[in-house]
Amino acid sequence: MNILVTGGAGFIGSHTIVELIAAGHGVTALDNLCNSSRKVLGRIERITGRSVPFREADIRDREALEKVFSSEHFDCCIHFAGLKAVGESVKKPWEYYENNVGGTLVLLDVMRRHGCKNIIFSSTATVYGEPEKIPVTEDCRKGICAHPYGRTKSMLEDILSDLYRADIENGDPRPWNAVLLRYFNPIGAHPSGLIGEAPGGIPNNLMPYITQVAVGKLEKLHVFGNDYDTPDGTGVRDYIHVVDLAKGHVKALRATEERSGVSVYNLGTGRGCSVMEIIKTFEKVNGVSIPYVIDPRRPGDLAEYYSDPSKALRELGWRAELGIEEMCRDSWNWQKNNPDGYE
Ligand code: NAD
Ligand code: WQD
Repeated sequence: MNILVTGGAGFIGSHTIVELIAAGHGVTALDNLCNSSRKVLGRIERITGRSVPFREADIRDREALEKVFSSEHFDCCIHFAGLKAVGESVKKPWEYYENNVGGTLVLLDVMRRHGCKNIIFSSTATVYGEPEKIPVTEDCRKGICAHPYGRTKSMLEDILSDLYRADIENGDPRPWNAVLLRYFNPIGAHPSGLIGEAPGGIPNNLMPYITQVAVGKLEKLHVFGNDYDTPDGTGVRDYIHVVDLAKGHVKALRATEERSGVSVYNLGTGRGCSVMEIIKTFEKVNGVSIPYVIDPRRPGDLAEYYSDPSKALRELGWRAELGIEEMCRDSWNWQKNNPDGYE
């Protein structure tokens, strides 16, 4: 298939492009580089031996998107482009709604005008809010998201569902076909060490913070709370290797060929892992020490949050293969080979 990957220079987008190429798909990457580097493209070429056509464009720029869709036919768009920092979204809600919701509306409009109504959308486990049950299944009700970032994702899921329903009501012979992938906690990096996560400034998320402590850029990790009702008192999450996550998108592509409508899948391992387990595993597999202090809980954090990913196995034939050890190994391999990211 010929795929447009928005946000293709980003963390998950770049890994997905590698897997799409390995599976024999044609790929064009589109990104405005607001949170990524053009250098990613050279790294993808080194891994795959293929050069990826790149369009530097903003999804809010209708004219630019018109040019992209006029120049070739895409069978599907895998849509990663968006802003993703939870804390920043609280401070700059307008920017998040305009970029994520506004930008996606422009993208969807240009797509439908050009007869491309297949989309795989990067959603997040955050849409469950405080989930009805753990492990979280896709039939759990969506919850109240604690921040604008999560609300943009939840809104976009609803928008895609409404577009599909309207197509069916209107008897559209080619209705929208959307796969909504709710990611849990993506970490890790490509085993080559050539691509990985490169956050600007001080990282908000656990793994990039740990790798920056390990490489000496940050002094120590702040563990947010050790008094949760979890086996060791620290927060439990469902960390998933970004290469497994990327492969989930390749499997989801097949679903867009085989069926239409809106389908939702959790992409996680189904295994909860605590902050302390991550620290200890990172130290063990990499032979480095991670100094840490216990700080108060971070407001808004839940004690535990992990997926039931069995629907993705049943319907997509996908399951995560890599464990915490590989995640820690590959995150460190990326960070130590690229202490300043793509700089
Ligand atoms: P990322 O920031 O590395 O990648 C997103 C890419 O989109 C960046 O390269 C950025 O430059 C680009 N972008 C942003 N706004 C754009 C715009 N208006 N036009 C064109 N390009 C634009 O983030 P990521 O971790 O790779 O996440 C990819 C997607 O997955 C995002 O939509 C994110 O919300 C979602 N997601 C991420 C996580 C996570 O923890 N990383 C979890 C759940 C969902
Ligand atoms: C993981 C655990 C923290 C940092 C976020 C978003 C979510 C999704 C994935 C996009 C928690 C603890 C963290 C630190 C710590 N992103 N921690 N010290 O909060 O589960 O999910 O990223 O969609 O929407 O909310 O991930 O990596 O921030 O935290 O102790 O310096 O690590 O308390 O238990 P989170 P995280």
